[in-house]
Amino acid sequence: MTNTFNPYGLPAEKKLAQHFEKIKQIKIKDLFVKDPKRFEKFSIKDGELFADYSKNIITEKTLELLFEFAEQSGLKQAIEDMFLGKKINATEQRAVLHTAARSFLKEDDSVISDGVDITAGLRELFEKIADFTKKITAGTIRGASGKIFTNIINIGIGGSELGPKLLVSALKTFGNKNLKVKFISSPDPSHATEALKQINPETTLFIVVSKSFTTKETLLNYKTARKWLLNAGIQKEDLKKHFVAVSENKKEALNSGILPNYFFKTESFINGRCSIWSGAGLCPCIFLGADIFTDFLSGAYQMDIHFRRQPFEKNLPIILGLIDIWYYNFFNAQTWAVFPYEQALSVLPFYAAQLCMESNGKSVDRQGKKINYHTAPIVWGMPAPGAQHSCFQALHQGTRFTPADLLSPALTQNGNKNVEILAANHFAQAEVLMNGKTQAEIYNELKKTGASDSFIKKTAPFGIIQGNSPSTSFIYKKLTPHLLGKLIAMYEHRIFVQGILWNIFSFDQWGVEAGKQMADKILSELKQQNKKPKRDSSTAGLINTFKKFQE
Ligand code: F6P
Repeated sequence: MTNTFNPYGLPAEKKLAQHFEKIKQIKIKDLFVKDPKRFEKFSIKDGELFADYSKNIITEKTLELLFEFAEQSGLKQAIEDMFLGKKINATEQRAVLHTAARSFLKEDDSVISDGVDITAGLRELFEKIADFTKKITAGTIRGASGKIFTNIINIGIGGSELGPKLLVSALKTFGNKNLKVKFISSPDPSHATEALKQINPETTLFIVVSKSFTTKETLLNYKTARKWLLNAGIQKEDLKKHFVAVSENKKEALNSGILPNYFFKTESFINGRCSIWSGAGLCPCIFLGADIFTDFLSGAYQMDIHFRRQPFEKNLPIILGLIDIWYYNFFNAQTWAVFPYEQALSVLPFYAAQLCMESNGKSVDRQGKKINYHTAPIVWGMPAPGAQHSCFQALHQGTRFTPADLLSPALTQNGNKNVEILAANHFAQAEVLMNGKTQAEIYNELKKTGASDSFIKKTAPFGIIQGNSPSTSFIYKKLTPHLLGKLIAMYEHRIFVQGILWNIFSFDQWGVEAGKQMADKILSELKQQNKKPKRDSSTAGLINTFKKFQE
């Protein structure tokens, strides 16, 4: 990977490279000294979401050249093409319209794709989800033995779990206190066993979420759930009262025993990793209620309007996506860290990881040519308070350039103020990442402890923090359904921007099939007795060792 950044061979790419050579040694803290208005210039407020990107290694010239590159790469038209339902998912010949799954709320916003007004279909789906939600909550839909449902279990993996899980965990305080929601995704039998412990099968509804309805892990857990109900005495013909399916593949779902009115469609033009906006929203909608789910949709809709209408220099997802390119393709950053301070957002790093790595983990451009520059980073993260006591050491004194998102609330979800500690840690970490700690500061600190000069001389070098580690800070008033919708849409559009600037297709995922196909082959070899696996010696050795351990 030579990482010469040339996705389009545009003049702006050369100008960016020249500019990089000029400013790559610049210190962020010096930029603040030079320009007291830096914070105002490099921050954006959109309703109750505030983004401060001033602690990044950028100048006004940097942004000007990045905007020029975005202009020349056709970003504006690419954004319009998505919203207008063009088949931008070219290799799968599909439109990409998760945005329509929230714009349908506005009467006048209809989207025509392939000559069909898809808005009507999305509105109908949402009405069906809202109606089903009402019936579960009111108890007009009950289990086989006539009991109302108190447990909702989402069976799905990847985007068929992460979106629902992010919503349910982030908005728990808004949820129906009479409902317990759990998630089963892994084929590890203990995952289902744990989830099914201490709950009453008669009051349990399973939601099987699978866009393809062929995902082995999900079908395995679907089977496990059926067995669990049968073992609890529920009659085979009554199982269908305990299963709902969300899929693009209606035929497979109904063939598996799902009732037609317990089937919810996931649209082909809504990508798996964005399925929360469509059928996969069923589980969180039942938990939160349709009104709260509508607030979530409208938050995303507001960010869509922002993304579609704001000029580049005031457009949050565009600025964030451009700064990403600046780091991955000029500073050679390898990872992107997402650190939410609020525990309720602990799933966000996982959600961002699928959004970014499954969309932009590509190495062929839209013309089918192998590319020689970096695309998606490795996305990681965890709740920031714990991260400060586990991996922040490497951010402060390690050798890797690690851009980070730090997010924290001004109020708790029930509106009280005892989150200052989160804000204090957030702002402190961002400042230390930027300023570091000099030898002189360590010397004075140790001097105050009364340490001897020889000890200080020996120890000081170990306390130096090089600083100049960039971060973008997000603060929000409180984590409401509306804010969460806005935040997720911001990340979706940021990743869309990356994809266009990298000249890659962000909405297919050809790379995931190979591993699944190989797993099927190896699974059958694992089950065959004494057959010599036709594999490389490592895989064959692992298969044989596994079998020996099982004896
Ligand atoms: O294997 C990748 C993937 O297809 C993701 O894109 C998707 O979110 C997940 O697996 C689950 O797929 P499905 O919803 O079809 O079960």
